[in-house]
Amino acid sequence: MDILEGIRERKSIRGFKPDPIPKEILQKVLELGIRSPSAENGQPWEITVVIGKALDEIRRLNIQKLNAREPFNPEVHMHLHAGVYKERHMKLAAQLYGHMGIDRKDKEKRTAWVQRGFRFYDAPAAIILTASNSLDESPTQFDHGCLTQTICMAALGYGLGTCIAGQGVLFPEVARQVCKIPDSQRIVMSIAIGYPDPDFPANRLQSTRESLEDITTWLGFD
Ligand SMILES: Cc1cc2nc3c(=O)[nH]c(=O)nc-3n(C[C@H](O)[C@H](O)[C@H](O)COP(=O)(O)O)c2cc1C
Repeated sequence: MDILEGIRERKSIRGFKPDPIPKEILQKVLELGIRSPSAENGQPWEITVVIGKALDEIRRLNIQKLNAREPFNPEVHMHLHAGVYKERHMKLAAQLYGHMGIDRKDKEKRTAWVQRGFRFYDAPAAIILTASNSLDESPTQFDHGCLTQTICMAALGYGLGTCIAGQGVLFPEVARQVCKIPDSQRIVMSIAIGYPDPDFPANRLQSTRESLEDITTWLGFD
């Protein structure tokens, strides 16, 4: 796949076929993923790939905590939640509900949708990214952002879909316990990964962007 085509085509996938991903393919995706740039080539990342019973256990415990309304406890800053950023989030949610045929007043269906997020959208695999607690959060998160996008792009090249999944690690103690992630590591992000279900309505969503004109200043081009 051409690189420009790949960038244009990538989008979050929130419905997956149950088909397992061969380990060799996941290895190839991650081999490419770790070609990502990082500050001073520090490569401040460690990766856990989880499938099968362990992933099902994470899903189960995430839902248990969600249903019990336990407070979220992310180990990095995740949400913007104000002003125009909140408005963009609301627009995305409305578009997703529109595709899924979920009425905003239908609390039951909305809850079911949120639960899907905490189940990694039922993907056959999840990738959990961690970093040493000895590192400052913000440069590490920047490098993890690069890694995350490269993993998503590499996955696309192998016919896989991804959804970066903050929800998956809003109860980080769950993944920590199931995956035996040591306390010396901070859980940064997770990625749901699998073969996209082409019939899943939310997968048809092409999320919008503000216009380049509105966010770019060009100097010295006259
Ligand atoms: C740090 C980060 C966390 C995210 N967490 C979630 C999540 O928990 N659930 C979800 O459905 N999408 C999540 N996403 C995906 C975004 O909603 C998505 O990237 C955005 O709406 C743009 O859509 P696109 O990826 O289809 O281009 C996350 C993305 C990022 C970068």
